[in-house]
Amino acid sequence: MEMDFFATAAKGVEEVLAAEIERLGVSDVTQEKGGVRFKGGMRDCYRANLWLRTAHRVLVTVAEFACETPQQLYDGVRSISWQQYLTPDLTLAVSCNLRDSKITHSGFAALKAKDAIVDSLRDSCGRRPNVDSRTPDLQVNLHLVRNYCTVSLDSSGSSLDKRGYRLDRKEAPLRESLAAAIIDLSGWDGGVPLVDPMCGSGTIPVEAALKASRRAPGLTRADFGFQRWKSFDPEAWSAVLKEAQEQVCETLAVQILGSDLSVTALEVARRNVDRAGVGNLVSFSRAGIGEGVPPVSPGILLCNPPYGVRLGEEEPLKILYKKLGDTLKKSYQGYTAFVLSGNPQLASCIGLKPSRRIVLFNGPIECRLLKYEIY
Ligand SMILES: C[S@@+](CC[C@H](N)C(=O)[O-])C[C@H]1O[C@@H](n2cnc3c(N)ncnc32)[C@H](O)[C@@H]1O
Repeated sequence: MEMDFFATAAKGVEEVLAAEIERLGVSDVTQEKGGVRFKGGMRDCYRANLWLRTAHRVLVTVAEFACETPQQLYDGVRSISWQQYLTPDLTLAVSCNLRDSKITHSGFAALKAKDAIVDSLRDSCGRRPNVDSRTPDLQVNLHLVRNYCTVSLDSSGSSLDKRGYRLDRKEAPLRESLAAAIIDLSGWDGGVPLVDPMCGSGTIPVEAALKASRRAPGLTRADFGFQRWKSFDPEAWSAVLKEAQEQVCETLAVQILGSDLSVTALEVARRNVDRAGVGNLVSFSRAGIGEGVPPVSPGILLCNPPYGVRLGEEEPLKILYKKLGDTLKKSYQGYTAFVLSGNPQLASCIGLKPSRRIVLFNGPIECRLLKYEIY
């Protein structure tokens, strides 16, 4: 059965995500603000959850209707055949985000929709399911914009950037999905060396290794939302997993290097890369920026230096950014460098003219991914 899906992503990542979804071979792929729509079957849903590197969630759209009043909301949600998705023994939770609508309270809208769902189940099954707001079997989302309501089921459960390999959190790690997006935006395809000289907990090198070795990012995850659904098909899921495992390359022809000044960050990075199953594909070393010799060009350098959000941090960081610029000029001829920075004043201290600026959001922080061609 063909269904409508919406994969969510961070602002600025929609185009990269649309290209990833196209590669899954599904139909009707269209970019929207905050995500990408596509059509497919349940197997496509499993594959999207397992393979998408830059998405946060894959939502299944189950109804769309005009909605100006609480009664219209109740009736619209009630008209969905919930016994397809739920039994009284499964738990549910309803979340709502809304704007520019006559209904203005998201908590109230979620409650109204929950009432409609449990009433529908009680009528069809004689019993009502329980609500579990922390770990529900079925997470229902309402999206109410300009008095138009979209009801969807979250097939991912926890956000897809939680791959499962990063248990130790170093200060200010990049979200895995954003690291994957930066790698895609850099155009790196595994054909030349990739270097991150401020790798912190290693997110960029790990995501690069996962991509180059064709390892599905979800292979290290413990579970997905759809595995608890009434309709879950374990055989189809096993086939999707098997297909992914068969594609993994155990070796790479190019080097992926991560270095950092901090010994503790490198300890975390080494644990993460091992847990991700790509420990043999990435080399880490301790080095300050400007130390060490990069692999011969051409190559790609990717990094996100500290932004300095706290007072008094900016002055020493200006020196660091200048050092990064000097190092690029001196040691990285023939490389293309991409620096993600959330602080334009600091970025200007690099002292090179970027050939491209891409706006991305690292959580709430508006950042620029700056591209430098080093001649
Ligand atoms: C924002 S964090 C990078 C986070 C990383 N992308 C991750 O996902 O964990 C910046 C990193 O730059 C490192 N760093 C700061 N000064 C440095 C220097 N002079 N040379 C090398 N690394 C440095 C810090 O130790 C920190 O790990």
